[in-house]
Amino acid sequence: MGAFARRALLQGAAAGLATAAGGTVLGDGVALAAPVRNGQGRVIPLYGPHQAGILTPPQQNAIFLSCDVTASDRAGLTELFRTLTSRARFLTAGGRPPKESPSSTPSDSGILGPTVVSDGLTLTVGVGASLFDDRYGLSGRKPVQLVPMKAFLHDDLDPALSQGDLLIQICADHRDTTVHALIDILTHTKSAMKLRWRIDGQRNPERPVGVRRDWFGFKDGISNPDTTDPAQMNQWVWAQPKSGEPDWAAGGTYHAVRIVHFHIEAWQKVSVAEQERIFGRRKASGAPMYAVGENASDVLDPIYTNDPQGLITPLNCHIRRANPQTPDTAATSTILRRSYDYDRSPNVPELDMGHAFVCFQRELETYIAMQTRLEEEALVPYITPKGGGYFFALPGVRDEKDYYARGLLT
Ligand code: HEM
Repeated sequence: MGAFARRALLQGAAAGLATAAGGTVLGDGVALAAPVRNGQGRVIPLYGPHQAGILTPPQQNAIFLSCDVTASDRAGLTELFRTLTSRARFLTAGGRPPKESPSSTPSDSGILGPTVVSDGLTLTVGVGASLFDDRYGLSGRKPVQLVPMKAFLHDDLDPALSQGDLLIQICADHRDTTVHALIDILTHTKSAMKLRWRIDGQRNPERPVGVRRDWFGFKDGISNPDTTDPAQMNQWVWAQPKSGEPDWAAGGTYHAVRIVHFHIEAWQKVSVAEQERIFGRRKASGAPMYAVGENASDVLDPIYTNDPQGLITPLNCHIRRANPQTPDTAATSTILRRSYDYDRSPNVPELDMGHAFVCFQRELETYIAMQTRLEEEALVPYITPKGGGYFFALPGVRDEKDYYARGLLT
């Protein structure tokens, strides 16, 4: 069975304590989203063995930016990663952009005012399988499970919304901070990469309490591994040294992003009882199916041992296909989900709303096995995956001298 020992709700509480204490450093030296107040919003430290934006409790706003690298050679690619690192240093710490004369072109967009705020910003940089073709001499260094995303049974993938050499996940407490970072990064890297696709997302507020709701009205993000437990993170999220992955990859993780369109109008026609059977949880409370009552706790674990036929929690509901809790699926039932909701306009006549489904896992094959099981889920008629890709989120930037992908490139 998956090691869902704790719930996102508890992680949120732990993160709150960390804030009050001015930051928490875990046993293995991982600074977990240790927010410090600097008057300019939270600072989430850039340096560490792992990148921020993975275990960091999700900020409210995100932009996923997929890019193709246009640098002409390996030196140009290295320069690109150095530039991305120096932008990340400045943007995540905040501060004054260099002073220029009023008659020169501004180095900063000014969207955040004269002083750039840190605002809980994290940048998480990953590489796609296409970066390991013959352009930069990296083919022998590819993470072993990294492949281009293939269409699953019910996908309708738009090539213009799929794949990419790089993925930059930008998250922050406010929307203007993510947009500022997007413009800053594109401005500073335009000679070496170009935008391929982008999806912007937000996290809805918790209504009324607990976990946020997605556009289908269900609490989403309840069952997740415990991000405050280094043992669980090493088991399920971080690539480990001497595990068959290239040495440089230790401390990184596979990052799957899927752009999933929701058929909202069709969903609105489904009774609440049926919606609950489709997800396998109660709509109002988020509790498992055995718990009735609007105020039932969403931190209760779904249990299937007394329900082999799926009379309480249907066998083809979302949570039971994702994590059937059987011995033969135990190895492929734990991923770290960190999704956002999108609302793209205008797209008439149908609403273009959905999920930027995001997850991190030590093995990409875990995600692929899970998504393959979901081909049979009852939610299929109400969603259409349109794009996204698989990436390998790089190990963290260690210090002022380090840069993204140094291990890969040297
Ligand atoms: C894109 C549409 C999706 C929606 C609307 C959605 C929504 C939900 C909801 C409402 C829950 C129950 C609450 C919770 O535990 O967070 C859930 C659980 C879960 N979902 Fe999804 N999800 C989607 C896609 C996916 C995909 C693509 C995967 C993985 C391939 C996935 C994996 C999971 C897992 C592992 C759980 C927890 C299962 C458990 O152990 O109980 N979901 N999802």
